[in-house]
Amino acid sequence: MKRVAVLTSGGDAPGMNAAIRAVVRLGLDRGWEMVGVRRGYRGLIDGDLVVLGARDVGGIMERGGTVLGTARCPEMATPAGQMQALAQLHEHDLHDLVVIGGEGSQAGAHALSLHGLSVVGVASTIDNDLAGTELTIGATTAIDVALESVDRLRVTASSHRRVFLVEVMGRACGYLAAHVGVASGAEAIVVPELPEDPETVAMEIHAACERGKSHAIVVVAEGARHNAEGLAQYFAQHQARLGFDLRVCRLGHVQRGGAPGVTDRLLATRFGAAAVEQIARGDAGVLVGLRAGEVVTTALRDVVGRPKPLDTALLAMARKLAQ
Ligand code: F6P
Repeated sequence: MKRVAVLTSGGDAPGMNAAIRAVVRLGLDRGWEMVGVRRGYRGLIDGDLVVLGARDVGGIMERGGTVLGTARCPEMATPAGQMQALAQLHEHDLHDLVVIGGEGSQAGAHALSLHGLSVVGVASTIDNDLAGTELTIGATTAIDVALESVDRLRVTASSHRRVFLVEVMGRACGYLAAHVGVASGAEAIVVPELPEDPETVAMEIHAACERGKSHAIVVVAEGARHNAEGLAQYFAQHQARLGFDLRVCRLGHVQRGGAPGVTDRLLATRFGAAAVEQIARGDAGVLVGLRAGEVVTTALRDVVGRPKPLDTALLAMARKLAQ
């Protein structure tokens, strides 16, 4: 009987469970034995495996996180770690693997596929910074979670006539910041892709106050050249001149913990189904992603290490809308 392994790796993302469920149940439907790897590549190297039946993936779709667990595993970036992972797979008669995760996870998947393993990647990270897909599992829920917080911060900012710097995740990518900023009507958005100096941001806030606004929200990407901490330091040093009362809120991992919304559940289910199809067809070494609303595949070699440009037109529009 064909045995297929599935793992989740890197930062957890809401919707990963729906992808696991789809992979396991559709694999079982084809008569395969499905094996879950606990704790991502860390668990693979350690041989932490569990056979999964249909009931084992019941009642998980509505839950955030990943029931398989995940981990950061620097060893997977080394040839020694990759050989250990391959040895475990061969020892357990596993010749196909589905990797649900973001950039680092797909780099591991690519390395294993170069060693001849049948690997299919499923695009999943709240950062939406992965090439080969317009959208990754988890991004829309993370945006919703962040938006709820920003809406609340706006309430207190307005009562106190304050400026809030709200830092969102995203690694080196401004996707989350740009989308949270536009959807919350932020007065300024700071992203890594368009480096701004703190004085420019201060002037944007100042201009908002001049236009009669009682408060301002600045959404800052954690990967921006001047993140929330950097901006806050600068504003504190120039407090007397700038004159605004400032607070900082780093949303941090809160953004990853939401229950997946409908978009992520559907995306993850479609991606999981497509991953099983690819394995059945013997067409591995690819990432399953989304293009123009359709589920598509891209060779892992064309995904790993490739930049994913941010739609900066969105930021120009946001600036006009903040009037
Ligand atoms: O890649 C997802 C992400 O949440 C990034 O936005 C963030 O920089 C990173 O993971 C945080 O990683 P960790 O959970 O290991 O601290």
